[in-house]
Amino acid sequence: MRTRILSIFGTRPEAIKMAPLVKQLERDPDIDSVVCVTGQHQQMLDQVLGLFGIEPHHNLALMTGNQTLNELAARIIAALDDVLAAVKPDRVLVHGDTTTASASALAAFHRRIPVGHVEAGLRTGNLMQPWPEEMNRRVVDVMSDLMFAPTASSKANLAREALHGRIVVTGNTVIDALNLTTARIDGDLALRAQLDARLPHLDDALPLLLVTGHRRESFGEGFANICAALAELAATDAAQIVYPVHLNPNVRGPVKHSLRDARNVHLIEPLDYLGFVRLMQRASIILTDSGGVQEEAPALGKPVLVMRDVTERPEAVAAGTVRLVGTQRAAIVQAVTALLADAHERSAFARRINPYGDGHASARIVAALTGRPFDEFASDDGAENIGVQHAAPARAVH
Ligand code: UD1
Ligand code: UDP
Repeated sequence: MRTRILSIFGTRPEAIKMAPLVKQLERDPDIDSVVCVTGQHQQMLDQVLGLFGIEPHHNLALMTGNQTLNELAARIIAALDDVLAAVKPDRVLVHGDTTTASASALAAFHRRIPVGHVEAGLRTGNLMQPWPEEMNRRVVDVMSDLMFAPTASSKANLAREALHGRIVVTGNTVIDALNLTTARIDGDLALRAQLDARLPHLDDALPLLLVTGHRRESFGEGFANICAALAELAATDAAQIVYPVHLNPNVRGPVKHSLRDARNVHLIEPLDYLGFVRLMQRASIILTDSGGVQEEAPALGKPVLVMRDVTERPEAVAAGTVRLVGTQRAAIVQAVTALLADAHERSAFARRINPYGDGHASARIVAALTGRPFDEFASDDGAENIGVQHAAPARAVH
């Protein structure tokens, strides 16, 4: 009898990180793989499904414009109940810390279906940062009997909480997805040229600052500061900025309002994963609040400045591949300016070790699910107790 595994996801980052795992599950003779997407994201999810060739068996299509968390969570639980009743999975897999993950885990738990949590154990220790993700990832771990921790320090976080499930260190599946994608780009000159041609306005002689930002705790003042910093940096003509703007209206409104007419700033639509990975390869510095980008950029040897006060991904900070700069205008300008002026320091990032995975996380997860032997990921994050990393206080630029 094959084990029926129902993978549930709904946002862009979940889709990228679940895609290599779904492919591995589909290939396994002992597994009957079923995929349900909640559609928490619509266009950004479709971009990923198309790229990896995943056709979900169930699509709840739940996204609404400017959806509230409660409306979305309630609709996920209600709609998923019918799917759980019809599919009768032996286990569900959820990913990370989204509303899709927490609502789906609860729906499965209510039906006594075992939950496996992919990317378990990330913590900041502060329920409000990131909000609401820190709560989501904690409650999913409480409900899970199998926790796939990406690193030794995420395992240590879980161990401290004395949860009841089994913890397995796998590496992060984002590195599996990234490796598959860079192999496609690096092995196909025509594809690379095609991707570069999508951004004809870029000047190869000018450093490229790649920006993404979408965190809810930065809505309002945080985004106003970030945009002001970007405008200030762009006005110096020292770099060109490309910012693929998240589709959340709370992000698009202020970003377009402040930066639409700024010199050297290119606001573009969200890129598909191939296009975004290529842009990361071309970037001199990446400025972001994204979780996934904090894991990918170190693997590409790119300097990352994280526009948050605290991160649940301390491994890269400890490894020196990521720096926290917060959301204050002066601190962002100062950090970017200093790095732009120091080519030696920028290239040092490329020599530091990526702590997040070796491209075999999906294989380990499937081995754990099927009871086959495997070696856990030997996480090279230096310590099991790196702890939470905070941004240094902002200093004024003179
Ligand atoms: C969600 C996750 C966050 C993750 C982020 C990745 C929660 C609570 N937050 O936040 O952890 O980092 O996704 O991007 O689950 N929209 C579209 N089309 C899309 C996607 C979004 O139009 O393809 C717009 C819609 O108006 C939607 C809004 O963005 O209502 C917000 O989407 P939502 O998933 O609620 O929140 P995110 O901020 O994207
Ligand atoms: N990404 C993408 N296109 C873009 C911007 C980001 O494909 O225009 C990818 C990025 O490489 C990473 C993921 O989306 O894998 C991160 O998604 P997001 O920042 O929305 O969410 P988070 O990682 O913060 O949860």
